[in-house]
Amino acid sequence: MTAIAPHGGVLVDRVLRGDALAAVRDRAEGLVRIEVDDRVQSDIEMIAVGAFSPLKGFVGSRDWKTIVEDLRLEDGTVWSIPVTLSVSAEKAAGIREGTDVALVDAAGKTLALLSVAEKYRPDKEREAREVYRTTETAHPGVKALLESGEVNLAGEIQLVDRPDTVQFPAYHRDPAQVRAIFADRGWKRIVAFQTRNPVHRAHEYLQKCAMEMVDGLLLHPLVGKTKSDDTPAGVRMRCYEVLLDGYYPKDRVVLSVYPAAMRYGGPREAIFHAIARKNYGCTHFIVGRDHAGVGSYYGTYDAHAIFDRFAPGELGIQPVFFDNAFYCRSCSSMASLKTCPHDPSHHVSLSGTKVREMLSRGEPPPAEFSRPEVARVLIDSLKR
Ligand code: ADX
Repeated sequence: MTAIAPHGGVLVDRVLRGDALAAVRDRAEGLVRIEVDDRVQSDIEMIAVGAFSPLKGFVGSRDWKTIVEDLRLEDGTVWSIPVTLSVSAEKAAGIREGTDVALVDAAGKTLALLSVAEKYRPDKEREAREVYRTTETAHPGVKALLESGEVNLAGEIQLVDRPDTVQFPAYHRDPAQVRAIFADRGWKRIVAFQTRNPVHRAHEYLQKCAMEMVDGLLLHPLVGKTKSDDTPAGVRMRCYEVLLDGYYPKDRVVLSVYPAAMRYGGPREAIFHAIARKNYGCTHFIVGRDHAGVGSYYGTYDAHAIFDRFAPGELGIQPVFFDNAFYCRSCSSMASLKTCPHDPSHHVSLSGTKVREMLSRGEPPPAEFSRPEVARVLIDSLKR
């Protein structure tokens, strides 16, 4: 059995190196510069390293339309969220199709060259409605979308410098590097776990149930932009380290960061997350309850149902679905309604708000909810 093929068949590599890099660096000095925010910076890196294969750049109007309407690129490849670069009409007026522009960070560092193939005005309300299922700006993904400029610039990119958002060099690996680790370990079946939270017992249960059926786990926390009340990535990384140290066999897990921004797109983002993990070489992808959800915009299992839209094999990566997991005192184990017959009063279920309140009082949640070592890291982080 060979490694799983990247989405679209080829792992995209748009990272400039050597002489080509030096030449582009010089040329970039004379180009129109577009300052991009941290979300777009993440997208630039993800496209360039192949995590968003087969995308080689920001999508044009034809792909935008088919993605929004049908969850596919124009050529039929499954793709669920438009990856776009939006600028103001004023900025767009100074840019001609067919020219190159430099994408820069706030400090003026050139991150990438964009060959502008097309400028277009997307119907953002429609994109919000179709992709996020709401146009309310209380939704963080919709807010970012509607607040961005009205003109999209599409075209292929070439990476000059990585964004300064690389926070965890020891865990920062591109898809090709993660694939090489899997090959080195001889893993054929690998399950990926996406998370933007500390890993609590429910998450651990999902991972370990899946680990029983595959060769290894890629613990793949998203560390790009998240909303301000999500636990900061630095704190989460310490949580993952203590958890793995205490409770996971080292030779069965790879901890690596997923430097993308969170879109909170629920079901559509579950597909997007799965495709990206396929590009990192994973064969299976865990989708639990309300995956990538926020507030009450999505039904608890909408992110499971959306996978039924595709024929087996179209995605390539196998979703592994889990119902809401909890600790049951009568079962004396983690369980879900699929496996536990007891009344909810036997279950240890705490809301995120309740857990945050406990932690900020310096009170660890019950060990059935969170490993004490993880609770300690979270409590200590709130003391500072
Ligand atoms: S997410 O935005 O990255 O999806 P989170 O880090 O909370 O958020 O969840 C990571 C994964 O675990 C998702 O697949 C989510 O559906 C799943 N999950 C989280 N908590 C539970 C739970 N109690 N029971 C079942 N699945 C869960």
